[in-house]
Order: sequence, then structure tokens, then C-alpha cells
Amino acid sequence: MAAIIDDLHQDHVNAAQVLKIAERTLGSVEAGEDADFSLLEDAMRYITGYSDTHHHPVEDIVFRQLRKRSPQMAAEIDAIAAEHDSIIMKGKRFLDSVAAVEEGALVPRSALVNRGREYLSTLSKHMDLEESTLFPAAATMLDESDWESVSKRIDCRPDPLFGTSLDEDYRRLWKLIQLHDRD
Ligand SMILES: [Fe+2]
Repeated sequence: MAAIIDDLHQDHVNAAQVLKIAERTLGSVEAGEDADFSLLEDAMRYITGYSDTHHHPVEDIVFRQLRKRSPQMAAEIDAIAAEHDSIIMKGKRFLDSVAAVEEGALVPRSALVNRGREYLSTLSKHMDLEESTLFPAAATMLDESDWESVSKRIDCRPDPLFGTSLDEDYRRLWKLIQLHDRD
């Protein structure tokens, strides 16, 4: 049942592509160019609307199961869970700033870039840490009955951007991801 870990890993690969688009847009903001704030907003809507409300909760279920099997990893697991909370909070705050700019609010470019970069780097490091520590631990330490219990608590939710059916709201983002994939 390590398919759940495969799905979580794929979510990370996908999220990294979205973060790359967000990073490029922040680069344009920083350079004083005519930045595509609407695209940045789409990227953050995807992260806060899918990763934060589906991906992190699934990980929390897996990690709680791992905590039961490997109490020695409790501190590490609790730190990751706490990071999920702060990432969700920071993501919402950054999305609000981007949406405010879209609506014409005067937000200093440097403040937006700093907030965005801090968010992107925190999320990126967080995913790397999960990939290098908790995912391999879960894959090796959880047995079939653990995965069965985990899967019972997971609700399946289609990914609106990388899933089988593309949500029209993300079409522009999807096209750009395809384009940069070939870079
Ligand atoms: Fe994750």
C-alpha cells in the first residue's frame, strides 16, 4: 500500500512545478517588470486549495500512524506536523497579499517578494525533509495493516490541476507548466 507514498511524492513533484512558476513571477515583480499577478494568484490558490487541504492532511494521517510504530520519531513527526500548520497560515497570508495587489492595493514590491520567497523556500525545504526522512521511514516501517488503516481515513480528492480532469480555472497555469517542462 506504499501507493499512498507514491501519490504523496507525486504531489511534491507537481507542487514543485507550481512553485517554479510562482518563483518566476516573483522574479518579474522584483525586476520591476509587468508581473502576472493573476498567474501568481492561481498558483497560490492551487497550493492553498489542494496541497493545504488535501495533501498535508493525508500526510498527517500517515505520519500519525508512523508515530505509533516508531515512537522514537515522535519529535521529528511533531515538528513536521507543526510546520504544516505554519505553512498553511503563511500560504493564506501570501495569497491574501497577492489578491490585494490584484485588486489594486498598494503593497510594496519588496514586501511581496520577501513574503513570497520566504514562503516558497519554507515549503520547498519542508517537502525535501519529508522526502528524505518521513516518507522512507513510512515506506519501510508501516505494514499492510497500517496502510489499510491509513487508507480508510483518507478521502480521495481529484487534483484540479494535475488530475485526470483539469479545472478550467487552472488552464493557464497548466499551459505554462507544460511550456516550462520543455525548458
Ligand atoms: Fe508534503
